[in-house]
Amino acid sequence: MAVLHAEETFEEDGKDVSLRPRRLDEFLGQAALKENLSVFIEAAKARNESLDHLFLIGPPGLGKTTLAQVVANELGVEFKVTSAPALEKPKDLAGILTTVTERTVFFIDEIHRLKPAIEEMLYIAMEDYELDWIIGQGPSARTLRIPIPPFTLVGATTKAGMVSSPLISRFGITCRFSFYEPRDMQAIVRRSAGILGVPVDEDAAALLASGARGTPRVVNRLVRRMRDFAQVLGAGRISRAVVKDGFRKLEIDELGLERYDREILKTIAEKYGGGPVGAETLAISVGESVDTLEDYYEPFLIQTGFIQRTPRGRMLTPAAYDHLGLKRNPDANDRLLF
Ligand SMILES: Nc1ncnc2c1ncn2[C@@H]1O[C@H](COP(=O)(O)OP(=O)(O)OP(=O)(O)O)[C@@H](O)[C@H]1O
Ligand SMILES: [Mg+2]
Repeated sequence: MAVLHAEETFEEDGKDVSLRPRRLDEFLGQAALKENLSVFIEAAKARNESLDHLFLIGPPGLGKTTLAQVVANELGVEFKVTSAPALEKPKDLAGILTTVTERTVFFIDEIHRLKPAIEEMLYIAMEDYELDWIIGQGPSARTLRIPIPPFTLVGATTKAGMVSSPLISRFGITCRFSFYEPRDMQAIVRRSAGILGVPVDEDAAALLASGARGTPRVVNRLVRRMRDFAQVLGAGRISRAVVKDGFRKLEIDELGLERYDREILKTIAEKYGGGPVGAETLAISVGESVDTLEDYYEPFLIQTGFIQRTPRGRMLTPAAYDHLGLKRNPDANDRLLF
């Protein structure tokens, strides 16, 4: 079945369902993005029209799926969810499009993975609110154009570069997520800890937030782990000492780097003389999939200024050597393309 139930899409975050914001005012951070979006939502509602198609871009765990659901809630309309890999045949997409109702928010995750035939069908649906359906085969085949109610497509991707330009051009609104600011991360810590019913000290919230790579999904996971540590080893509240100790146990350093992040940096330094090294080669060396490397690890390592992407591959920066406490390859500087 191509349409996933909302609950199924939440499974990726396990028990995170209760922490997921439902309304725009619970959706913390991303201020600029939210401000524009709330205007567009307000305007569409006032005109009784469907919201323009919405394109969400950003690394994993920053809130794309959450925002899609929030938009449907704010508009007060039905929410349908699927992901591109689940749409194998045109009939899978047609099956969903024929059931959308007026102003439905239809969310397609991983939209960079659409098959060409399905993408074609989507173009017409997005632009003309029609469904092209071919009946029969060979010379007697004919195309039926089935009208569908105006709906809002929300497409999400971690890889904007892999989305075709005809598809991109059909989205009226684009939202680019950035890593969350420290003060927004702290607000998420406080909100999540509140929902989970665990007290958290102010300085502990700040420290916890700083170790969560600007990512709500990561911070929620850390809040749960710290709650465990606090409950079993501490006095039931998340204090700075609990977080410090917790980070050590989870092998998270003061910048929020995980063991794998350091592994990646060390590999570039030690095996590839600081780079450049291609993503595939690097992924194999550290035993990760290219997707995980490119989508999850790399954006944060670039954001922290430890890795640079160059046309010839990934390069380590001097800051990375300092952070790891490694000596720099004397040639490495020449190869850094600033
Ligand atoms: N702005 C926010 N405020 C508070 N919590 C948030 C926010 N955005 C996301 N979260 C929390 O982070 C979790 C991860 O968000 P979500 O699943 O929407 O990320 P995503 O961008 O869709 O990730 P992926 O690319 O892996 O699908 C959510 O379950 C939610 O609890
Ligand atoms: Mg998602």
